[in-house]
Amino acid sequence: MSRAMQFPHFPEPIWQSNIQTPQFDALREHKTVDIAIIGAGITGITTAYFLLKAGFTVALIDAGKVMSGTTGHTTAKLTAQHDLIYDELIHHIGKDQAKLYYEANQEAIEYIAQLITEHGVDCGFSRERATLYATDPSSHQKLKKEFEAYEKLGIPGKLSNEIPFNINIESALVMDNQAQFHPLQYLLFLVNEIKNAGGSIYENTTAIDIQTDAKPVVVTREGWKITCDNVITSTHFPFFDGKGFYFTRMHAEKSYVLAIKPSKEYPGGMYLSTDQPKRSLRSATINGEQYVLVGGESHKTGQGINTMKHYEALYQWAESTIGIKNAAFRWSTQDLVTIDNIPYIGPISSNHDNIFVATGYRKWGMTTSVVAASILRDLITKTDNPYCKIFTPSRFIADPGVKDFIVQNADVAGHFIAGKVGLKEKRIEEMSSDEGAVVKVKGKRTGAYKDENGYIHLVDTTCTHLGCECEWNSGDRTWDCPCHGSRFSYDGSVIEGPANRPLKKVSPENNS
Ligand code: FES
Repeated sequence: MSRAMQFPHFPEPIWQSNIQTPQFDALREHKTVDIAIIGAGITGITTAYFLLKAGFTVALIDAGKVMSGTTGHTTAKLTAQHDLIYDELIHHIGKDQAKLYYEANQEAIEYIAQLITEHGVDCGFSRERATLYATDPSSHQKLKKEFEAYEKLGIPGKLSNEIPFNINIESALVMDNQAQFHPLQYLLFLVNEIKNAGGSIYENTTAIDIQTDAKPVVVTREGWKITCDNVITSTHFPFFDGKGFYFTRMHAEKSYVLAIKPSKEYPGGMYLSTDQPKRSLRSATINGEQYVLVGGESHKTGQGINTMKHYEALYQWAESTIGIKNAAFRWSTQDLVTIDNIPYIGPISSNHDNIFVATGYRKWGMTTSVVAASILRDLITKTDNPYCKIFTPSRFIADPGVKDFIVQNADVAGHFIAGKVGLKEKRIEEMSSDEGAVVKVKGKRTGAYKDENGYIHLVDTTCTHLGCECEWNSGDRTWDCPCHGSRFSYDGSVIEGPANRPLKKVSPENNS
């Protein structure tokens, strides 16, 4: 690492630095409600808010803390400019549906803006221009096609050949009237509204099953049951599959964010490169101080290089683009990508019309959460919603995504095998403080982390979801599963599902 580069020792999203998150008890009783919602990120919280307003009783549960998963790790851009998507959508689902995709997301921005204005929510909301830019000729061609798609769909946008940074670009595509905010300050408002409307929220409450009798029953690890008319799973990757085969239809992608104090004034706006390596920019004002969020370096979960290298790459790029006074926060995030890049929102499968899912948002969860909440409310109240068809999980679209699907699943299969035999191993006594590695214990592949006090934490790296081998993530000190994105702390506890059981601990005796 270059001497000049200084990073915070521990990852922490900037959003958690200036708010006091509320605390909720774990569920310790059986309960009966109209709707049980599993997963208290932006989708679960927004959907609970919508359903309470529609007159339902709601219980919202989370395996960890509210707002702490992907929602707490976002860059929180509120935009319908979801990277390059509209040209692709016109080809895959046709002009009318592609236009509806845009409208659903633009309406979501307006809904959030209106809510914030009406209630005076203090969450750093600002209208911003969103810009995609291309730095190579082939991306430039794609950007031109995307602009043509905007014209076909009536999306306001314009092509330009400059952006206000020291970056050589071929072209840029601007979408005006987008926005950004502080996601957790906004969600705090919704959580308070849920409490005031009589909704129940429970933390540290892990759902391990949904019994599908006459009425669905959510069963928690401690054996408590929530009996309800409808269940919504908004747990990022659905922990309950319902024969929807989600583990064959999505893959997880990891990306990284640095929050820096810039040495040059930030010119405003939100930016995303369309070529590799991906780069994303936006500003944020926290406690009166301006920061710039520099994101990118995405790769499939569990398949990256030493993860600190990704932060270093972002640092170097930010240094040359806007200058760095200091890097104040760093964190990584994980997104789920569907076969056709469109989220799955609706009944989890044709076998279960009262169990719903919302997942596969790619990187665009802020607007998609509102789209999901309105679709799910309307499915439950049996109200027409023009956006249901685009997002329904049961769609089958014969498109080029199917090719990617095969590649993704070949990758997954590869990890079942290569993960078990192909990794370099270390001896425990060779490990340095604050280092993770694969070692042998009683001849068996074992994950080891040596903490700063010299204590060795040993775990079986076989993922408790479907048995892939987890890889060490040195930036976050976690074991990450490359197959469907489960993440485990160095001591094996679950940070993110679909796995809902910890990695098995291994006794240190007899390592060889
Ligand atoms: Fe599915 Fe690990 S997340 S096998």
